[in-house]
Amino acid sequence: MTHSRIVGTGSYLPPRILHNEEFAKRLDTTDAWIRERTGIVERRIADESQASSDLALEASRAALAAAQITPADLDLIIVATSTPDYIFPSTACLLQAKLGARDCPAFDVQAVCSGFVYALATADLFIRGGGCRRALVLGTEVFSRILDWNDRGTCVLFGDGAGAVVLAADSSPGIHCSALHADGRYAGILSVPGNVSGGRILGSAYLQMQGNQVFKFAVKVLDDVAREVLACAGMQVTDIDWLIPHQANVRILDATARKLGLPRERLAVTVDRHGNTSAASIPLALDEYVRAGKIRDGQKILMEGVGGGFTWGAVLATF
Ligand code: ACO
Repeated sequence: MTHSRIVGTGSYLPPRILHNEEFAKRLDTTDAWIRERTGIVERRIADESQASSDLALEASRAALAAAQITPADLDLIIVATSTPDYIFPSTACLLQAKLGARDCPAFDVQAVCSGFVYALATADLFIRGGGCRRALVLGTEVFSRILDWNDRGTCVLFGDGAGAVVLAADSSPGIHCSALHADGRYAGILSVPGNVSGGRILGSAYLQMQGNQVFKFAVKVLDDVAREVLACAGMQVTDIDWLIPHQANVRILDATARKLGLPRERLAVTVDRHGNTSAASIPLALDEYVRAGKIRDGQKILMEGVGGGFTWGAVLATF
């Protein structure tokens, strides 16, 4: 039986760091408020010249190098993003060209902050179905472009970045189980409710959010879906070496670990320095922990995301 396994990780953060103090200079907010309510200290902001595919390119090169393969070895590229370069073509196709990969399917997945988990679960199905042997899976975002920089309730929360993994066919897992969910009835609590029509933007081009509702929803479904994949794999919370949740807010992360009964030392946390990078946050955290030597071969990792849609999902894997 064919399984899929993560054989390389990579990430990229734009060099410009935006500290909380910079918001405090021009908005009715403070460094202390942002730290206390979100755990965020700083985030990265992409240069105007950088699109999602540019961030993705850097992360991809690092992941391919870690996996010791070249773009020509890829059979599939899936990019999770809610901030694509264009309406079309997809960011995955633009990335394919920038990488110099040829003749492999490439497409985007749109599940907002759950996007990476959706993309990884999809690539796993391709590999297990025999459709491909090596897939490049990414989350890449420039959320700074869809923020109202005068709205203190949202602009302090997000950052830009990209993370990538190479997933390869293997005789043993790898990925043990994944679960994906969506409930469109909650579309209104987190959205960018605009579209392009006749050369104009209709509606709003800025992110809107009902923070309290998102918070409660996130903690509930992150707990539910973590337990779902553990049950599917016949494992216990104690089997998990690292929980890598979508990095939305440190209070959401702490509440999720607490609810699961998982010690905080086994929780991956990067939101303090990255902010919420939406679909990029899980592969960014994964790569950072791998490169720091914290996540090691053979360890069990549980990645889980929740985001607009609403969407949520989890992937349980042996690294
Ligand atoms: N600085 C100072 N005050 C602020 C700021 C700010 N940056 N933002 C909001 N406030 C004010 C509000 O206006 C409100 O003032 P009021 O009482 O006079 O009306 C007060 O702070 C309290 O607002 P709440 O929304 O109740 O604050 P809360 O403790 O819930 O924190 C937050 C707000 C941080 C947005 C929180 O609800 C949250 O993290 N929610 C989850 C949202 C999230 O993570 N979204 C990411 C996208 S979704 C995802 O990734 C899953």
